[in-house]
Amino acid sequence: MTVLQDCINKKSNINCIWLMRQAGRYLPEFRKIRSENQDFIKLCLNENLSSEITVQPLRRFDMDAAIIFSDILLVPFALGQPVKFKKDFGPLLGEIDFNEMLNLNEIQFTDKLKPVYNAIKKTKEREELRNKDLIGFVGAPWTILIYMLNQKSPKNEDIEFNLKDKRFIEDLLKIIVRFLKTHINNQIESGATIIQIFDSWAGLLNEKDYDKYIYNPTKDLVNFVKSKKIPVICFPKGINDYKNYVNLVKPDVISIDYNVDPKKISDSIDITIQGGLNPNFLIGDREQLKTNVKRYLDIFKGKPYIFNLGHGVLPNTDPSMVDYLVKLVKNHL
Ligand code: CP3
Repeated sequence: MTVLQDCINKKSNINCIWLMRQAGRYLPEFRKIRSENQDFIKLCLNENLSSEITVQPLRRFDMDAAIIFSDILLVPFALGQPVKFKKDFGPLLGEIDFNEMLNLNEIQFTDKLKPVYNAIKKTKEREELRNKDLIGFVGAPWTILIYMLNQKSPKNEDIEFNLKDKRFIEDLLKIIVRFLKTHINNQIESGATIIQIFDSWAGLLNEKDYDKYIYNPTKDLVNFVKSKKIPVICFPKGINDYKNYVNLVKPDVISIDYNVDPKKISDSIDITIQGGLNPNFLIGDREQLKTNVKRYLDIFKGKPYIFNLGHGVLPNTDPSMVDYLVKLVKNHL
């Protein structure tokens, strides 16, 4: 068993840690590769470079897992919707060709993302991954739906407008769920040992629509991962009631954002908890970081807990602060 899986199953008292966006712009070695590869999608589809980027943080820090370097928006891309990343703006998606998506089969989809699966296979073989988990991931159906309809990162006011054409949206959601399963399956077959489902925009949806867009389709994916006998972590960022989400969706691990009270979560949820610390604490001073790391570790002491942040590492983070964080977590008694 790996350290992370022991942590999930509460088989050890050793603290475990990995970070969302542990590979990324805060690392100079990532920025170097990125500056030589302007097209972000192409970089994600370069199996040698994406494998290399995946292990970069493991060379520096004693992380207990790697997460494959890729992006949730590769799924819309493989469904035939153009995706590009504009500097200092974020993702920009093109028009949806619904007929093309209806006619797409699993083999064609898989072919388009072959380099991702090859990168997972390659990464698994690397020395840096010995006895460590390799986390595969997808965007949750709701978050993928929102990107596909909104064609860029959404703001609050965009949502109602986008949910008008109900019939079309329901058909699109079905296609998304179908191919997210294909993507999950391919990652597991290539060697991913845990799957994380990112619902980054869960907080934007009106509660009355949770069943349809969040609970039901996500539960479908969670059951699919469980049928493959590997753990599934869900991160419904900004959801109003984590306890209800856990009861309905039933992931193995729930990843919490930095706006929720960890004490309340610890008192009310029985499954393994992950994350929570505000990534801004990695930008501040060491004393403040230490106090807040200790707060999370004390609250979750004796319970199955995976140390992580409440969202990804920010680009302006000093890598030496990440080093300090990992040491704090590993040495906390
Ligand atoms: O280390 C890791 O966490 C693995 C790689 C990873 C990336 N994206 C690489 C990336 C993962 C797990 C993701 C998930 C992802 N992608 C999410 C869910 C998590 C979250 O942040 O909420 C979302 C919403 C996306 C979509 C996306 N990709 C956006 C909005 C952006 C631009 C803004 C930003 O945060 O940088 C990206 C680009 C992206 N994905 C970068 C990286 C390292 C930055 C690329 C660059 O500009 O150099």
